Amino acid sequence: MPGWLEIGGGLILAGAVAQTAISLIGNARGRLNRSRRDAADAEFFRRRAALMLRAAEVERDKQLLSWTGLRKFTVTLKEEEAKDVVSFYLEPHDRKPLPPFDPGQFLTFQLRIPDQPKPVIRCYSLSETPLEREYYRVTIKRLDPPPNEPSAPRGVSSNFFHEALAVGDTVDVRAPGGVFTLDMTSERPVALIAGGVGITPLLSMVNTIAASGDDRETWLFYGVLGGSGHAMRAHFADLARDHPNIHIVTFYSDPEPDDRLGEHYDYEGRCRVEIVREVLGVQNYDFYICGPPPMIATVIADLEEWGVPGERIHSEAFSAKTIQSAPLPAAAKAAGEAAAIEVCFDRSGKTVDWRPDAGALLDLAEAHGVRLDFGCRSGSCGTCLTAIKSGEVDYLHRPGSPPEAGSCLACIAVPSGPLVLDA
Ligand SMILES: Cc1cc2nc3c(=O)[nH]c(=O)nc-3n(C[C@H](O)[C@H](O)[C@H](O)COP(=O)(O)OP(=O)(O)OC[C@H]3O[C@@H](n4cnc5c(N)ncnc54)[C@H](O)[C@@H]3O)c2cc1C
Ligand code: FES
Repeated sequence: MPGWLEIGGGLILAGAVAQTAISLIGNARGRLNRSRRDAADAEFFRRRAALMLRAAEVERDKQLLSWTGLRKFTVTLKEEEAKDVVSFYLEPHDRKPLPPFDPGQFLTFQLRIPDQPKPVIRCYSLSETPLEREYYRVTIKRLDPPPNEPSAPRGVSSNFFHEALAVGDTVDVRAPGGVFTLDMTSERPVALIAGGVGITPLLSMVNTIAASGDDRETWLFYGVLGGSGHAMRAHFADLARDHPNIHIVTFYSDPEPDDRLGEHYDYEGRCRVEIVREVLGVQNYDFYICGPPPMIATVIADLEEWGVPGERIHSEAFSAKTIQSAPLPAAAKAAGEAAAIEVCFDRSGKTVDWRPDAGALLDLAEAHGVRLDFGCRSGSCGTCLTAIKSGEVDYLHRPGSPPEAGSCLACIAVPSGPLVLDA
């Protein structure tokens, strides 16, 4: 029988052995955790480096391959995507390589259309990923007169594309432009919100995320009237099936008899933030919105009410007012708040007051019946270039290509003091 002394000694020895074992296990765990952390850090830096390198290559190719002025493109394919929505595949007539673009950018077309007194300028978003370097693709909805004005003329450019332009025809195109673009170096999750044909720039974004193997969480909320207007239904189903990080949520506001909830679409009614909130749960996403101006205004207001910071909300409207994606420059805001700034449209013989809520000079001109040509309304196509007779302007955001000295891009310019324009 062991005495108390032996038992006590045995316990002390066992305790020491256990303590050593615990400390060894602890050290080993610590080393394992450290090496896991090191591996995660290394992977993070490897991914960042790969993203930055890819972005630098894209910039280099843009510089090398972009063009100024107009370039001829041949229509190589027309593909119906939905009722009144057709994709046009375009290849450069000179067969030289195409520059890449940022997902979300658009092309500006200068069209010679019979019966039109002068060339018609229109912008169409690039709807395919820039990783596709053989062709550009635009997807265009044909516009009828508004229901309340059935005798008004049909959309000039969209009907020309759909009805007159055939495979083999050529069109004149300016290089890709636009600032409504997906940041390919970011790893923040994205929520894309589209109304109708506003799907096109978001389609380029989601296709690029899929094609580049980008695994950031991506949700596309897409609202249409009903099944016949649901463009690329099969393509979106494939994307969601093949990419676990990509999720598509579809809304039909006016379902047709054959449309089945849960099979063809997920929610009845308009695409709305109430559902976006329910689905996402948290708002740490970058939001990209494109569609008709009233839809954009509602979605932005609801996102802001939810608490999404303005810098994470990006939007592009296909028409109407200039998109104010940036705050007013401080000088213009201060000057405009202190007192209205006088803007003279010299050739039209009109002098009017500008205040910050009047928007860009193009919006101010239209509000006072002064006609200025425009294309993109976002500072990229150069159509609204207007000569300055005296005074200075600021810009709502950096122009796609800087205007000539002594002139301004009226769609994104605001006066920084009294201004006289040759308009
Ligand atoms: C950056 C950007 C990207 C864009 N991307 C796309 C895209 O990817 N896909 C796309 O389909 N569109 C896109 N658009 C819109 C496109 O540029 C055109 O505005 C659109 O195709 C309409 O042009 P249109 O010449 O066919 O119509 P317009 O001739 O400009 O007419 C517009 C509407 O007004 C009606 N109308 C004409 N005259 C009158 C009148 N006197 N009284 C009442 N109504 C009248 C027409 O019937 C038509 O419904 C984009 C626009 C921008 C700014
Ligand atoms: S309308 Fe295109 S730059 Fe102003």
